[in-house]
Parts: sequence; C-alpha cells; structure tokens
Amino acid sequence: MKADIGVVGMAVMGQNLALNIESKGYTVAVYNRTRERTEELARGPAQGKRVVPAYSLPAFIASLSRPRKVLVMVKAGAGTDAVLAELFPLLEEGDLLMDGGNAHFADTERRLAEAERRGLRYLGVGISGGEYGALHGPAIMPGGHREGYALVEEILLRTAAQGPEGPCCTFLGPGSAGHYVKMVHNGIEYAIMQAIAECYDLMKRGLSMTPEAMAEVFSDWNQGELSGYILEITEKILRYVDRETGRPLVEFILDTAQQKGTGKWSTQAALDEGACAPTIAAAVFARIASALKEERQAAADVLPGPRAAFNGEREVVLKELFGALYLTVVSAYAQGMRQLRQASAERGYTLSLPEVARVWMDGCIIRSRLLFPIRKALAANADLPLLFMAEPFISRWTEHHEALRNVVTRAHQAGIPVPAMSSSLDFVDAYRTARLPANVLQAQRDFFGAHTYQRVDRDGTFHTEWEML
Ligand code: 6PG
Repeated sequence: MKADIGVVGMAVMGQNLALNIESKGYTVAVYNRTRERTEELARGPAQGKRVVPAYSLPAFIASLSRPRKVLVMVKAGAGTDAVLAELFPLLEEGDLLMDGGNAHFADTERRLAEAERRGLRYLGVGISGGEYGALHGPAIMPGGHREGYALVEEILLRTAAQGPEGPCCTFLGPGSAGHYVKMVHNGIEYAIMQAIAECYDLMKRGLSMTPEAMAEVFSDWNQGELSGYILEITEKILRYVDRETGRPLVEFILDTAQQKGTGKWSTQAALDEGACAPTIAAAVFARIASALKEERQAAADVLPGPRAAFNGEREVVLKELFGALYLTVVSAYAQGMRQLRQASAERGYTLSLPEVARVWMDGCIIRSRLLFPIRKALAANADLPLLFMAEPFISRWTEHHEALRNVVTRAHQAGIPVPAMSSSLDFVDAYRTARLPANVLQAQRDFFGAHTYQRVDRDGTFHTEWEML
C-alpha cells in the first residue's frame, strides 16, 4: 500500500508530525539523511503504526501515492535547499512539496518559483507549537499554491490543533504568505516573552519577590483575559525546583538569550515594509543586549544607577503590573497584525486577519485568550488600522494606561530596563498624538540637505534658506 504523505527529516519536529499525521488515520512514509534515526523511529514509537520507513530518497518517493505529497522538516536555510535539490528531480508534474521549517519568506518565494518551473506545486508551511504541538496538534500556516493545498487540506486540518473556533489551519494566501505569517507570529512571540521577563525582573528586583510568589501572581493572571501559553509556561518555570540545589532552577540559568533569527527577520521585514513594530524590535534588541554578558558585568561596576527597589505597596504595584503587561501584550499583537495587513497589501497575500487570529487560537506558542477579542475586532472592521482603535481595547487602554505609565516610570526610576513595556507606551502615545515633533525633523532635513517640507496652512512643497551662507 502506498503512503498518503511523506515526511523528510526525522528530528523531533518531523518525527512528531509524522506520528501525529499517522494517528489521524494516514499512512506516512518517512526518510532521514542518516539511517539510524529512521531505524530508531521504526523500532520505537512508530512500531506497529502505518509508518513506512525509507532509506533512500528514491525509495521514499516510490513509496508515495500520486500525486505525491512531501513535507520537508529539516533545518531552515542551507539544509532545506540541499534536500530540495535532491527531491526536485525525483518528483513529477503535479506533485506537491511542502516546507514546514521556519524558512525566510524570501527563500520560500525563490523555492516556489523553482518548483513552478518544474511543474510542481509548493507550499511554505509555518508550523508552531514546538515538540508537543507537533505531536498533539500544532497551528499550521500554509501558503503558496492553492491547488497544492487542496491536495493536503484534509490531512492538515486533522493534524492541526482543534481550536475553539475550528482547526488551527487554513490556506493563508499565495506565495510566501504562510511563512510570512509564521515569521510575524515569532516576532509577537519574542515581544510577549520579553514583556513577561520584564514582569519577572520588576517583581524580583523591584518587589524582592521569590519565584514561588511570582508563580502565584502569574497563575492568578493566567485565569483571566490575558491567559495564554507563554504566561502558563512561565508560571511552571518559576515553580520548577532544581534537584541539585533544591532552589528554583530559573535562578541558575545564564541570562544571555539566544535566537535563531525569526524575530530579527520579523523586525527587518517591518522596516522594509515601513511597518511600525517597535515592541517586537525592542524584544529582539533586548536579546542582543542580554548577550553582552561580560560587558554588562564590567559596566555594572562603572556606571552607577538608583537603588532597584520600588516604593509602594506590593498589591498596588502588582495591579499596575498586570495593566502594563496587558497593554504590552496587546501592543505586540497590534503591531504584528498591522505589519501583516501592510505586507498583505504590498505583497498580494490576500490575508484574512480574523483567520490568522483564529489559527493562532490553539496549538501555537502565542495562543492566548486575547485572540478571541482580537479576532472579533478584526472581523468587525476589515479596515481597522490598529487593534487599539476597537473595543474592548479602547476601554482597556483607558483603564490601564496609567498603570503602564506608572510601571514604566517606577522601572526607570529604579534603573530596571523595560524595553518592551516602554516601547509599547511610546508606540501608543505617538499613535494618539495628533501633532508630533516631526515638523522639526523636516526643518532639520531641509536645513542641511534642502530636502523640502510641506506646510500645514497651504499646499505645495517648500524649501527655505535657513541661514545665509
Ligand atoms: C514555534 C516557535 C519556534 C521557534 C522557537 C525558537 O512557533 O513553535 O516559534 O518555531 O523556533 O521558539 O525561536 P528562537 O530560537 O528564535 O527563540
């Protein structure tokens, strides 16, 4: 019997996805560059299942029913190109290739064009949810050839997380739409992670709280409208006790964040689109700053700052902290959605933002209860410029903006950096300012470079000789 679909790359994500697809009633062919991994899988978790191991790519391709459907789950970048170069000549017109890695959208476009030249169908598929999600139901973000999607729609819908408003998978649009959406998902992921890490720092240094006490706070916050996966795992992290020391493990983890690049790409793409995504950018820069460990340690002895502790009652500060986190997290989604809207218009993705919100409701890393009102707001107004301009976010801004201001002020006065929170505050404050000081920038540009300016009181383009030479 021929396999319904094949998965190339048996690292943990590929393996778990293959097992997940099989568990939905499909026969799955699997292949890995090194034979041992496939053997281990066949002997281990895939034993007795409809998993067909193959030990060469031609044998793998031969085991697939036509049109062949191949999901590549290898390391993004050169790894994907190497596998595709081997797969292309083995496939026939009408076959479907899917890349489920975190590919850069420009790479997806290049590969899609190559597939097209060969008469193949291609999908760039964003997959989120880590190892657990891959096995039990990830969020799946496919984009590319719609006819290709039709071939795997049923499989993908059944493999995806079954969210509160339907399977967390939908065809997002042509070209690199799927990988673009996944990239922005990761940008939002970076910002939410950073905002929560800032809460931890403020509770630790500002309020001298223990990880256990912080876990209680996060647990409490996770009951309400801010409830979400990253908050949930942070609570678990804070409760985890290191076996060797008997103390919370988190305190023993080196404070230099690593990154594989998707947050950076998201920010680079925002800059290219001219999309305003300062909180996402701040989260990327915060990781970069964290990596300067040795320099930071040296500077700590040289550059003075205030005492890090807060004045004020713990309960009052914690209440404000919730408001600050709420608005920062909404900023992250708002900036990400806005970037997607701009990119969609510019790149012809034809994205449905309410559908993006729906696909993110379960399975993925940024799943959160907030996606319900986000989806609703986006569905109610297709031209919504920014989430903050719709309910319930207008009311939440009104309710919490003072808290955000107080937290940012307290943090700055205590010398504790809060780049995600302060950039969110600046972002919304700039957005709600009818007249910004960009008039001065324009005058400066005109002064030194004769770049011209426009006036508020009459039409036309003007230049002034600001100074006699
Ligand atoms: C997901 C994640 C995942 C990402 C990791 C690590 O949606 O499952 O976004 O795709 O690779 O979270 O990313 P960094 O190494 O850049 O932190």
